[in-house]
Amino acid sequence: MKKIKIETVLQVYDTINELPKDIINLMERAVEARNKAYAPYSKFNVGAALLLNNGEIVSGNNQENASYPSGLCAERTAIYYAGANYPEAAVLKMAISATSINKPTLEPIPPCGACRQAIAEYEIKQKQLIEIYFMGETGKVAMSKSLKNLLPFVFDKSAL
Ligand code: THU
Repeated sequence: MKKIKIETVLQVYDTINELPKDIINLMERAVEARNKAYAPYSKFNVGAALLLNNGEIVSGNNQENASYPSGLCAERTAIYYAGANYPEAAVLKMAISATSINKPTLEPIPPCGACRQAIAEYEIKQKQLIEIYFMGETGKVAMSKSLKNLLPFVFDKSAL
């Protein structure tokens, strides 16, 4: 028997103003997307914006459905849009902002497990790390240099 120790390193910024200019801009795009989320059931609005290596910024938000499981998270809406429309481009950076109508979201809200799996697919496909910034409505912003920090022991094509 041996033990495997996995270390996850996140950088945490106290406010959005501490971020580099290009990331503030990307986060603003995520907030714009968040404000257009279709989340009448959960009332939890999420926006994601992606910077591609061709300079494009694409964004997405959560899309809910009366048949709840048919809805989709913001991160996957955004990254599938990028994959569908810019299949040759690499995703360099991702900014995520989430807010609830019911309570203030002051802590960083990380992407859900299913979104981490989806993001992992693209990080592996493009052989380039994706820098991920995530926040609530205001307050701290957490940053991971790679999706790998958020999803150790990823299931990937090597298992197939
Ligand atoms: N949601 C996201 O958009 N991203 C996440 O990573 C977590 C959850 C959405 C899905 C659903 O519309 C609402 O937030 C509540 O779960």
